[in-house]
Amino acid sequence: MTSSFRFAVLGCGRIAPKHADSLKKIDGVSLVACADRLPDRAKSYAEKNAIKAFDSLEELLSWGQFDVLSVCTPSGMHADHAVAAMNAGKHVVVEKPMALLLEDADRMIEASIRNQVRLFVVKQNRYNLPVLALRQALDEGRFGKLVLGTTRVRWCRDQKYYDQDEWRGTWAQDGGVFANQASHHIDLLEWCMGDVESVLAKTATHLVDIECEDTGLVILKFVSGALGLIEATTATRPKDLEGSLSILGERGSVEIAGFAVNEIRHFNFVDVRPEDVEVKNKFSSNPPSVYGFGHHNYYQNVVDTLRKKAEALVDGKEGRRSLELISAIYASAESGREVFLKKDSLGSRLGH
Ligand SMILES: NC(=O)c1ccc[n+]([C@@H]2O[C@H](COP(=O)([O-])OP(=O)(O)OC[C@H]3O[C@@H](n4cnc5c(N)ncnc54)[C@H](O)[C@@H]3O)[C@@H](O)[C@H]2O)c1
Repeated sequence: MTSSFRFAVLGCGRIAPKHADSLKKIDGVSLVACADRLPDRAKSYAEKNAIKAFDSLEELLSWGQFDVLSVCTPSGMHADHAVAAMNAGKHVVVEKPMALLLEDADRMIEASIRNQVRLFVVKQNRYNLPVLALRQALDEGRFGKLVLGTTRVRWCRDQKYYDQDEWRGTWAQDGGVFANQASHHIDLLEWCMGDVESVLAKTATHLVDIECEDTGLVILKFVSGALGLIEATTATRPKDLEGSLSILGERGSVEIAGFAVNEIRHFNFVDVRPEDVEVKNKFSSNPPSVYGFGHHNYYQNVVDTLRKKAEALVDGKEGRRSLELISAIYASAESGREVFLKKDSLGSRLGH
């Protein structure tokens, strides 16, 4: 018999409906409660999903009749909320980025080990169909030696977007385009290209009044010797243009484009296979929003892992890996120097 799991959501804002919708599609699990410090938000989310509403994490935890907490609060709060839930014996699914400080990520990993509960970090773009096709080609060794990996995020976030909640664009709770919007693409780049040795970054704030950057560039050197480039901005106007990823190797090159890394533009290999012709047609649908389709598949992996039928795709350690890279990017932008991930201090204003 498959075990059933009861979920609760903390933070009933923009991303929370994706969690509810995904959970509804998975057999044997249920969403039973939510909490938000704004009672009206909790109430309306609860009404929509026919679940219980609470006004704080403390109240939700003292009620306690659930197994997994999905943390959808502002990024700078993730660690405290996740650790409190894990100390109460709950498994935790935490939205990206898992935290803004590496020491917070370490606290979360430690709490999960100490309490013998699971910690998952949401990186739903890994489940985009074109990304899965790329990943399969990488796993099969079709690229040969990797040469260059680049990602480009050209999205539109205007002042109205940043003004809708006070945490957006702040060092203490959010970070800029690298920690927030491009964190998915940074994760995908590293997932495909392997560990990063060093980064050299430049950032700027061009079109909005926020503490952090709306635009940035990073040159990367991977441990393998391959090079990389990240171009990220929320200062594209008047609308989202692109979220893309290119992986180039000695025996092949793949480019995934669209506005949410959702469409294969090039899929070229020296060892051409008959099924390659179909890949471009099969993987070319635009998702309705930049959040993409992946939350459902991501949650399926969470539930399968809890049922001990799968390995976690992004656990705490894997989530920390991309936070380490993001921290290095900010450290480099601040110091103006190339930062080596395993040698240099990765501290910056992010998370403070
Ligand atoms: N995976 C993705 O594609 C994706 C997309 C959007 C957002 N996110 C992440 O999800 C998180 C939330 O983003 P959002 O856009 O939904 O933000 P939001 O501001 O719309 O929602 C956050 C909610 O948390 C509530 N909250 C704040 N402090 C709280 C507290 N102490 N206790 C209980 N509730 C509290 C707020 O009232 C708000 O309703 C961020 O970390 C963001 O990076 C991920």
